[in-house]
Amino acid sequence: MTASNSDASGRPVRRAICPGSFDPVTNGHLDIIGRAADLYDELVVAVFVNQSKSSLFTVEERRELLSEVTAGYPNVRIDAFEGLVVDYCRDNDIAVIVKGLRAVSDFDYELQMAQMNRGLAGIDTLFMPTNPEYSFLASSLVKEIARWGGDVSKLVPPNVLKRLTDRAGERS
Ligand code: PNS
Repeated sequence: MTASNSDASGRPVRRAICPGSFDPVTNGHLDIIGRAADLYDELVVAVFVNQSKSSLFTVEERRELLSEVTAGYPNVRIDAFEGLVVDYCRDNDIAVIVKGLRAVSDFDYELQMAQMNRGLAGIDTLFMPTNPEYSFLASSLVKEIARWGGDVSKLVPPNVLKRLTDRAGERS
């Protein structure tokens, strides 16, 4: 999709990005995505392709799961990118990065990245506090619990749960 700067009536399009690994997408991510989609005209949820980090799901699988769980949001688009998030923002006319903050422990690193991204390219970051229900939730924990057969059904959407269960079954 080519990003257009204005809508049919000439009004500027407010566009934001939710970048992340999404390995896999959790209910915590979905909470942030849904709320960000309400705030902006267009929201890109972008999977960061990190060659130096091993992942459970391929980029294509992660995109597919994200597409399924965001199907109800007409203004959300799923993509993947390699490189700097600010370069992706520049190429796609995106002015704002949206990040969920689970706890104070997230803040130090997120602030550092936000300030770096603002310094690099003038891209601002909007911090959104996660729903407290998900303050402990992380993809890494979900993967570990699912790997050992633990119940993650309240932590991830049903399509992700199925994919995790299938993957655990393949290993046993
Ligand atoms: O879900 P994650 O792994 O916490 O997401 C981290 C992510 C992908 C949002 C962050 O690492 C990122 O923006 N990476 C893109 C590369 C980049 O721009 N790095 C410089 C940040 S100042």
